[in-house]
Amino acid sequence: MTAADRPVAGVIGWPVAHSLSPRLHRFWLDRAGIDGFYVPLPVAPGHVAAALAGLPALGLRGVNVTVPHKQAVFDALDRVTPVARRAGAVNTVTVAEDGTLEGTNTDVAGFLGHLRQAAPVWRADAAPAVILGAGGAARAAAVALLDAGVARLVVVNRTVARAEALALALGDPRVAVAPWEGLAGALDGAGLLVNTTSLGMAGQPPLTPDLAPLAADAVVYDIVYVPLETPLLAAARARGLATVDGLGMLIHQGVPAFRAFFGAEAAADAATRAHLLAAL
Ligand code: ATR
Repeated sequence: MTAADRPVAGVIGWPVAHSLSPRLHRFWLDRAGIDGFYVPLPVAPGHVAAALAGLPALGLRGVNVTVPHKQAVFDALDRVTPVARRAGAVNTVTVAEDGTLEGTNTDVAGFLGHLRQAAPVWRADAAPAVILGAGGAARAAAVALLDAGVARLVVVNRTVARAEALALALGDPRVAVAPWEGLAGALDGAGLLVNTTSLGMAGQPPLTPDLAPLAADAVVYDIVYVPLETPLLAAARARGLATVDGLGMLIHQGVPAFRAFFGAEAAADAATRAHLLAAL
C-alpha cells in the first residue's frame, strides 16, 4: 500500500466533536492493522450538498452522517438503498469507483444486531413490541422490528400526530398508534419496550413508566447511552427483565460502515465496548 492508498473516511455532523465514531473506527483500524484515517468533519446545515460533492475529489471512501443531516443528504446522493428509503434517513454514504455517491442506513441493522446479541432470548413473534417516540430513531427501530417479524408494533408518542405520520410512512398493517396516556395499555403483555425519546438522557427528565404490565420475559431497550444505565433500564433490571442499552447500537451500526469504507470486518465485541466506555 502506498501513502496515496491510505484509506480515509469520516463523519459529518453539526456539532460533530461529541461523536464516538472516530474513536470506534480508529480502534477497528488499529486492530485490523489498516493504515487509514476516520475523521470528524464539522459540516454546518446548508453545506451538506457541497460537502458530499467534494468527497470524490478529496479521495474519501465515504462518510457516516449524524445529526442534523440524516434527511438532508438524500438530495445530494446518486443512489439510496431501499432500507434507507424506508427508514427515511441515511447514516452512511459511500463513494463508488466512478465517483457516484450511494446512501444507506446501518442504524436499522445496528438496532437489531445489538438486540439479538444482548437479548438472545427475545423472539420477534412472541408478543407485541412497543416503541416510545416518533422521531428518526423510532423509525429506524420500527423498520428493524417489522423486518424481524413482529406481529404487532405500537408506537406511543407525546405528540400523537407524529406517531400517526410515522405509521403512515411505514405503511404496514402491523403498526398501531397510541397516545402517551395509552402507554400502560400498550405495555400490557408486550414483549419488548424500546425508548427512542430523549427522556432519561443526562439533563433530561427520567422515563419511569410502570413496567408491571409487561410480559414476564419482556426485554427493555433504551437507545440512550449517556448515562449507560438510564432510570428506565434500572427499573427494568430491578424487575428482573432483560435490558439492552444504547451503546451497542452505536457499535453495531458501525460494523457495515467499516466494511464499506475499509473493506475489512470489524467485530462488535466486549473489547470494542470497553474502548468506547472509557470515553464516556
Ligand atoms: P430522533 O430523530 O433522535 O429520534 P427527534 O425527532 O427529536 O429525535 O425525536 C425525539 C422524540 O423524543 C420525539 O418522539 C419526542 O416527542 P414529540 O414528538 O412529542 O416531541 C420525544 N420527547 C422529547 N422530549 C420529550 C418529553 N419531555 N416527553 C415525552 N417525549 C419527549
